[in-house]
Amino acid sequence: MKIFEKKADLKKYLASLKNEDTKIGFVPTMGALHEGHLSLVKRAKKKNDVTVVSIFVNPTQFDNKEDLKKYPKTLENDIKLLESVNCDVLFTPSVEEIYAENVTAEKYNFDGLEHQMEGKFRDGHFDGVGTIVKTLFEIVEPTTAYFGKKDFQQLQIIKKLVEKYNIPVKIKGRPIFREKDGLAMSSRNTRLTKEHREAAPFIYKTLKKAKKKFGTKNANELTKWVNKQFKKHPLLELEYFTIADESTLQTVTNIDPTKKYRAFIAVFAGEIRLIDNMRLKLK
Ligand code: PAJ
Repeated sequence: MKIFEKKADLKKYLASLKNEDTKIGFVPTMGALHEGHLSLVKRAKKKNDVTVVSIFVNPTQFDNKEDLKKYPKTLENDIKLLESVNCDVLFTPSVEEIYAENVTAEKYNFDGLEHQMEGKFRDGHFDGVGTIVKTLFEIVEPTTAYFGKKDFQQLQIIKKLVEKYNIPVKIKGRPIFREKDGLAMSSRNTRLTKEHREAAPFIYKTLKKAKKKFGTKNANELTKWVNKQFKKHPLLELEYFTIADESTLQTVTNIDPTKKYRAFIAVFAGEIRLIDNMRLKLK
């Protein structure tokens, strides 16, 4: 695997490989890689000639300084994992390489997608995500970029970014990878205390129960029911649960059987904030 820290070196290398038909697959990450990330890399490998992964803990998307400071960094192990799936290229720039002296996010209008859920609770988060992903797309110029549905709102926002700015890249959403007990894989899971790690699968279990109840209760009642389950839980604190339209991400009031819905959740397990989501279907 080739490893680059400088964008000019990466660009030069990619240009040397490229002809008109070369397909470049791209997986942007913040490192501390797990099977969820690797599933995206494997998919990119399968569908492209060259696969590029970036590892960059992007400061402008963190609304919480402590979370940024404590974000796990495991570069040596990440390199081993990427080599194990035959990743071709890794890009690990420094903050200065990406932002020079100006570590700030551009402001984006994602037609309202940015005001829902994560956007409501993490101030400026999607401006930071938009800024870094657009920058990385300009450097890598991928044919296709792969994103996990674990961050479903992020996926929809990236699709909007590409559409609004006419960036010539295809965006693919891929399934959520989970631990055996159902907890959605996340780099932040390694920061959970033993107690909170044991409690965390309650999030997935509750989503599954909510999925079963969808259709028998209306969206409002179901939201109340989920809130009640978390009130009773001694270790987990619900930040939000909402049932939203997949395309607008707006909370639903009346279910329209022609539309697609998803349940979205954010929970604090001690200091660690976990998110998850699940597709809901009417029976
Ligand atoms: P990060 O959290 O490292 O995630 C990188 C990619 O892996 C994202 O597309 C995310 O949705 C996907 N992913 C994470 N956990 C997953 C799981 N359990 N199953 C499937 N896919 C999973 O998301 C980011 O980084 C950043 O916001 C980034 C897009 C890199 C911009 O900085």
